[in-house]
Amino acid sequence: MRKIYVFDTTLRDGEQSPGVNLNTKEKLEIAYQLEKLGVDRIEAGFPAASPGDLAAVNAVARAVKNATVIGLSRSREQDIDAAREALKDAQDPCLHLFLATSPIHRKHKLRMEKEQVLETAERAIRYAKQYFGKIEFSPEDAGRTELDFLCQVTEMAIRAGATVVNIPDTVGYMNPSEFGNIFKTLKNRVPGIEKIQLSAHCHDDLGMATANALAAILNGADQIEGTINGIGERAGNTAIEEVAMALATRADYFGATTGLNLKEIAKTSRLVSKLTGMVVPGNKAIVGANAFAHESGIHQDGMLKEKTTYEIISPETIGLVDSKLVLGKHSGRAAFREKLIDLGYELDDEAVNAAFAKFKDLADRKKNVSDEDIRALLEEKLVDTPE
Ligand code: KIV
Ligand code: ZN
Repeated sequence: MRKIYVFDTTLRDGEQSPGVNLNTKEKLEIAYQLEKLGVDRIEAGFPAASPGDLAAVNAVARAVKNATVIGLSRSREQDIDAAREALKDAQDPCLHLFLATSPIHRKHKLRMEKEQVLETAERAIRYAKQYFGKIEFSPEDAGRTELDFLCQVTEMAIRAGATVVNIPDTVGYMNPSEFGNIFKTLKNRVPGIEKIQLSAHCHDDLGMATANALAAILNGADQIEGTINGIGERAGNTAIEEVAMALATRADYFGATTGLNLKEIAKTSRLVSKLTGMVVPGNKAIVGANAFAHESGIHQDGMLKEKTTYEIISPETIGLVDSKLVLGKHSGRAAFREKLIDLGYELDDEAVNAAFAKFKDLADRKKNVSDEDIRALLEEKLVDTPE
C-alpha cells in the first residue's frame, strides 16, 4: 500500500477563511489534536503576516514532536527570516515558499516575465537552503500555468534545493482529468523528479477539491494538502477527512493509505468547528451530523437487517458511537418499533400500530420527531385507551 503524506494547513489556509482568527492557545490545541490524528506535516501559519502569527507558529514549533512544522513564506528574504525565527525551535522544521506562475498572476499581480519569476523563486530557494533542510516550493496558481513553464519551474526548484514541489489549484479551476495530467506530465518530463516529493493543494470553488486530490494521487502525488472540515479561502480547501476515508474505503481502487488514526477524525472535526466557529453543514461528507443518519423507512429497514446495505463506512471507524435512525415522515414501522424498545416500551402489535399511526400524523407536521415527542405520544395513547 502506497503511503500518502498528509500536510495539514488548517492553521494557515484554514485560518484564511473569512471571519476566522485563531490565537496561540487555540492553534496549540488544534496542533495537539492534529498530532493525535497522525498528520505528517502541520502548516502552523504565515510568520511574516503578523507578530501574533509569528509567535503562534513558534509556540506550535516548540510543542509539536511528532510532525514536521511548517511556516509559509513569500519568495523574499524578510519573509524567510521571519519564518526562520518562528521555526527555530522546531524538532523538524520546513519552509513553505511560494511564488505565482500563471499568466494571469504574472501579468496583473507580479508584473513579471517568466524569466523574472524563475530568477526570483530560485534566489529565494537558494537563500532559504542555507537555513532549512526541508523546503517546499509552490508555484501559486499552478493549475492555470502553462504546462511547459510549470515543468521548467519544477526543474528549477529541484535544482535549487526544494525537497517538495507542491502543485496548487489556487482558484479551484481544475477538473480531475486535467489536474491528474499535470502530475503525470511532471513525473514523465522533469529531470530529477524522483528525488523530491510531489504534492497536491486543491481548492473547492467548483466542488472538486477532493476529486482533484484523488486524481493527483492516482497520477503519482506523494502528498496531499488540506484542512479539517475543508475550511479555507473562499469555498475552502480539500477536506483531509474526505481523502483519508476515500483511500481507506476504496483501498481496492487507490492502493494507497494516509496512515491517519481514523478514530480521531470526528473529535478533530468537532474541535476545529468549535475553535474556528465554522459550523459543519449537516450533509458534509464524513463529519456532517447526517453522514450516518437514516430517515427513510426503506433505508432504516435495510440498516436494521444489515448495516452495509446503506453504510459504506461504519461510524465507529471515525470515532463515533453509532449510526442514527432519525424518525421523520419517511420512517417505517421497523425503525419505530426499534425506537420504542430503546425507550423502554413493550407494546403488542396492535398498540404499536396505533402508536405508529399517531407518529405518522405528528411527523407530517414536524420535521424531526424526538424521543420526547414519542414519549408524549405514547403517554397520550395510554390516556386515550383506558385499560
Ligand atoms: O492556494 C494556494 O495557492 C496556496 C499557496 C500558498 C500554496 O495556499
Ligand atoms: Zn491554498
